[in-house]
Amino acid sequence: MNQMTWLAPGSGLFAPVRVGPYLLANRVVMSAMTRRRADEADAPHALQAEYYAQRAAAGLMVTEGAQVSPQGKGYPGTPGIHSAAQIAGWRLTTEAVHRRGARIFLQLWHVGRVSHPLLQPDGALPVAPSALAAPGMAETPEGDKPFPVPHELDAAEIRNVIAQFVRAAENARLAGFDGVELHGGNGFLIDQFLRESSNRRTDAYGGSQTHRLRFLLELTDAVAAVWRPERVGVRVSPINPWGGMADSDPAGLFGKLAEALSLRDIAYLHVAETRTRRPMFNWARLRRRFRGIYIANGGFDRYRAEVALRSGRADLISFGRAFIANPDLVQRLRLGAKLQPADPAVYYGGGARGYTDYPSLTVAECEGLPRFDWRRAVMAELRRW
Ligand SMILES: Cc1cc2nc3c(=O)[nH]c(=O)nc-3n(C[C@H](O)[C@H](O)[C@H](O)COP(=O)(O)O)c2cc1C
Repeated sequence: MNQMTWLAPGSGLFAPVRVGPYLLANRVVMSAMTRRRADEADAPHALQAEYYAQRAAAGLMVTEGAQVSPQGKGYPGTPGIHSAAQIAGWRLTTEAVHRRGARIFLQLWHVGRVSHPLLQPDGALPVAPSALAAPGMAETPEGDKPFPVPHELDAAEIRNVIAQFVRAAENARLAGFDGVELHGGNGFLIDQFLRESSNRRTDAYGGSQTHRLRFLLELTDAVAAVWRPERVGVRVSPINPWGGMADSDPAGLFGKLAEALSLRDIAYLHVAETRTRRPMFNWARLRRRFRGIYIANGGFDRYRAEVALRSGRADLISFGRAFIANPDLVQRLRLGAKLQPADPAVYYGGGARGYTDYPSLTVAECEGLPRFDWRRAVMAELRRW
């Protein structure tokens, strides 16, 4: 293929794009990142508003996961979206971000078995599709404890969890969000239903791929009914093994999901494209099975983002860690400036340090940068392939 045709003009990182009802200023997305700085009532406050506003040059932002109910919580300090105080706290963030012109979706989160009675209401067991413990330790107020064998949800309890998501979506709307993203990745409840290693059910929610997809599809339909499909995004991480996740046929499972979601006209499919030598996963093929907006995530830089966008491999690119340490990431990408590294020691918990105190480039620093020729950079990247 001719490389000049291949690199379609007008579709790069800084071209506007329509997602659902919104015309976004660019194709840079801030990926969901848990930072665990909510208050004692699991409510976000002025500090979160400042953090998100600092990064609001992104066309679209996705918040950190917000638990849909007390049962959905698995870590200290994560914010919820099930109380009046939490709705009021999130409103500070949506207003601050909207003042800067970005759109912001709330990520709806239920951790499932990745929790502990010490983090659950009334000391209850965490819930899951099957009574199988996750590997690893829960971080509880009494120190690290092994994840327990969870309570297996029955059909009525599954309906109750779906109702929790529906109420959370209604609350997100009250808080001023532009939409919601269902957190279907990283070994949490939805992922636990999707994948074989955590779902051994023999009813309509387990067994075949079609059955294991049922929970997420019912959830998508239920949330879309309160909010409209065009304001609902879905996130998955098909080969992320975290939390004991495994599946014998991720390409088949997530391909089927992409096709089922194509029929629903959702806002987007957001895929954490974990890169491993084995198992190999053909991300381009997954993208082709989804007829809608596809957001690619995972270790992108400017060059790789331009290649993915201009080849049609993705419609938008989301950045995670790069946004932590670079509040002005969009500007840095535009200028081809160096990125500051993030400090993992301050990812979770604490206050402003490692959260809102990363500096942006000064005007003088921007002016001192050589002009960034992204065309040459992308061609150089392609020649290396
Ligand atoms: C500190 C931290 C917290 C994260 N929390 C979430 C989360 O709440 N929800 C989610 O879907 N992904 C979460 N992720 C994954 C990121 O959204 C993203 O997929 C990952 O960092 C890979 O993208 P990157 O290479 O651009 O950083 C988190 C990642 C980090 C580093």
